Amino acid sequence: MASVTLPQTASSLALTGGIPVGDVAYSRYPQFTEAAIARAAQVLREGKAIGLGRFHSPEIAEAEKTISEYHGDRHVLACSSGHAALQGALAGLEICGGDEVITTPYTWGASTSCILHQNAVPVFVDVERDTGLIDPELIEAAITPCTRAILAVHIFGQPANLQRLRAIADKHGIALIEDGSQAHGARTNGVRVGEVGDAAGFSCMGGKVLPTTEAGYLVTPHEEVFWKAAMIGQHMGRSPEPDFPDKLKPWVDSLVYTYRVTPLNAVLLTEQFGRIESWVAERRRHADMLREKLAGAKYLRMPDYAEGVLPVYHLMTMNFDAAAAGVSRDVFMKALQEEGLHAFGYVPSPIPDWKRLHWQDYAGPRVSWLSALEQAGVDYRNLDLPNCRHRIANSIEMRFDYIDDQEPMIDRTVEIILKVEAHIGALRDFAKSQNAS
Ligand SMILES: Cc1ncc(COP(=O)(O)O)c(C=O)c1O
Repeated sequence: MASVTLPQTASSLALTGGIPVGDVAYSRYPQFTEAAIARAAQVLREGKAIGLGRFHSPEIAEAEKTISEYHGDRHVLACSSGHAALQGALAGLEICGGDEVITTPYTWGASTSCILHQNAVPVFVDVERDTGLIDPELIEAAITPCTRAILAVHIFGQPANLQRLRAIADKHGIALIEDGSQAHGARTNGVRVGEVGDAAGFSCMGGKVLPTTEAGYLVTPHEEVFWKAAMIGQHMGRSPEPDFPDKLKPWVDSLVYTYRVTPLNAVLLTEQFGRIESWVAERRRHADMLREKLAGAKYLRMPDYAEGVLPVYHLMTMNFDAAAAGVSRDVFMKALQEEGLHAFGYVPSPIPDWKRLHWQDYAGPRVSWLSALEQAGVDYRNLDLPNCRHRIANSIEMRFDYIDDQEPMIDRTVEIILKVEAHIGALRDFAKSQNAS
């Protein structure tokens, strides 16, 4: 593997008027094969606009079968989004009004809004400092008689500690739900994410590891969870599936959220799943390359993973050592951006800090979940979440859609990081001058 050398242009930082290294570009993303595009066109040509489930639509049946084969023959429900799949997971497990779900404060909001939209109550526990994944060791202390589930998120494509989470859920007789929206294909101890929980939801929106236009899917080992989830997303009376359980039939109607997948996205799901393993392998290969080439970096490093933990790197997340660097994460990140690396902080603040959860002093447009939170008496303001707060203040994220061979772009990323590190003295001076002015 070629090492990265600093060019002459590295004489001063772009932030202080020097010449930038240059933009880090990405693979065209998402990518669809010509075969996928032709199939999508055919669906439109045939006017197959309505997706009433696998019984009516061979495209949906094919997609669900393909995904099920990928996920060890579990039951799969293709849906309109990741959020729909996650809410379906909760509904399928009959988690609703006032039930408590232990979850992470460090994620995309939909991991939490799926709980709120069931009028259930999120209970936030802190995360591991290095990865931002839910800390299993804090979960048992948060369990109450109202706890019905743990909802873990495989954030940035890093698998949560599923074996430990499963053991805790089983010990307490509660469900384990996985949010695999950023982690298609990630593995821990030989098991794929989505295959340990009682239900898992995945997003397949256009920026995800498995991209379509907007879609998602639910995976569950429990047939009844599958049907109950299907019932809240579509009118099962219009889609008389032969296996639909008799005992659920009296409860079928059109009081639904309309979470159906379209035949158009169903063909994209099928076609994209044919490529997932090669995409995952490329993401891992590029991540290993980045780790190796960054071995000499002092202030920015990728999280360490235990043996058997295989992330999929939906986004690249790194830990910044502000104390050693002598500048804040934001100043360092600004210097990276000015050189051409689109670095950012993905999670703006712990979710429980968000105003739309604070029924006590909320003044915005009305939202449906506040009365459930008020009834439960939860106060999310200023929760003690030291690791979550530390990670938000000290991590740096970047896109990592390297699904084609892109060693030159990895090299450029490394060049930028090493250049900023090499000029840390100048960056400290810059930060001081900013504070003084
Ligand atoms: C962790 C996580 N959960 C849930 C979702 C929701 O997925 P969707 O946008 O498909 O509803 C996303 C998507 O951005 C996500 O990143």
